[in-house]
Amino acid sequence: MEKEFSIKYTQFKHWNELASVDQKLVAAANEVMHTAYAPYSKFNVGAALLMSNGEIIKGSNQENIAYPSGLCAERVALFYAGANLPETSVETLCIVAKGDLVPVDTILSPCGACRQVMVETEVRQKKEYRIILISQNDATIVFNSAVDMLPLAFGVQAIIKK
Ligand code: THU
Repeated sequence: MEKEFSIKYTQFKHWNELASVDQKLVAAANEVMHTAYAPYSKFNVGAALLMSNGEIIKGSNQENIAYPSGLCAERVALFYAGANLPETSVETLCIVAKGDLVPVDTILSPCGACRQVMVETEVRQKKEYRIILISQNDATIVFNSAVDMLPLAFGVQAIIKK
């Protein structure tokens, strides 16, 4: 029997069409992007989390001369939140980037390893959260859940989705 997935997301021409609470998160992601340590890829990524207590947690990519030892911005932010605010849930994650690695009209789409970690956060907090992705020319898409970005994620399908 052939089956298919369909994934809903919302698209905007510019992030300034988002609600003001989301725009604040975009600003935080842009701000922390400048702290990226990316001497090897020259690709700066910023990730900002709006927590359920109103706090904003920020992370940027941190590279290493032993390449695999570096970490993406999303995981820096999510692991910081897990370590420092373990009882507080994530409501929204916003990711931005700057650099030649991807075309300016391409949405910054998290790598597979980050998606698995993003899904784990939903499992841990038993609650989905929104994900805002932005291109270097300000095009924006919003997902309602990390699981939507990683269908059939290892170990979690039945827990999160109907
Ligand atoms: N990177 C992130 O931080 N997040 C992503 O979603 C994709 C890639 C980082 C890893 C590395 O430091 C640089 O961007 C180039 O891959």
